[in-house]
Amino acid sequence: MDFFETVKTRRSIRRYKKSGVISKEDLLKIAQAGSCAPSARSVNPWKFVILTEKDRIIGLEKIIGNNGRFLADASAAIVIICEDTKYYLEDGCAAAQNILLAVRALGFGACWIAGDKKDYCEEVLKYLEAPSGFRLICSIAIGIPDENPVKEKPEIGTVVKWERYQE
Ligand SMILES: Cc1cc2nc3c(=O)[nH]c(=O)nc-3n(C[C@H](O)[C@H](O)[C@H](O)COP(=O)(O)O)c2cc1C
Repeated sequence: MDFFETVKTRRSIRRYKKSGVISKEDLLKIAQAGSCAPSARSVNPWKFVILTEKDRIIGLEKIIGNNGRFLADASAAIVIICEDTKYYLEDGCAAAQNILLAVRALGFGACWIAGDKKDYCEEVLKYLEAPSGFRLICSIAIGIPDENPVKEKPEIGTVVKWERYQE
């Protein structure tokens, strides 16, 4: 899929075909896209914990609760954690967006599930057995899409300001 088509048509997908399987090869391709993200001072503070076993994914859903209520039907979840560096959040979010676009480019569906700032962060990190000093950026549910949501985006004329901010 053309890059701009991928960007324009990506939407959060929260309904997945049950028992859909995504190969480890594709999951690695997706993680590789995450790892190609820009990183302040090129620290690359991220690790991608990929869950593919049903009980591991359901265990994650139980901790996260409503924010990730659709996880149980996902084929996989990629949990992005970062070492607690100065720009951990920016770096981790850049990786997350690359992952969402890679998922879309491969024809799968995904949804970002909030991490940083949530009160379940520590429990998720413990569940993953992450070493101390890591922060949770987000979890990304990935599956075979079973919905095609329509979500309008702002008209470009309403968000672009040339040279300075003026109405
Ligand atoms: C930082 C961040 C946190 C989000 N957290 C959640 C979440 O916890 N659960 C969820 O279902 N969607 C979550 N989303 C997805 C947004 O709801 C979604 O991106 C937004 O509604 C726009 O829809 P779109 O992704 O289809 O363009 C999150 C997105 C971002 C960027």
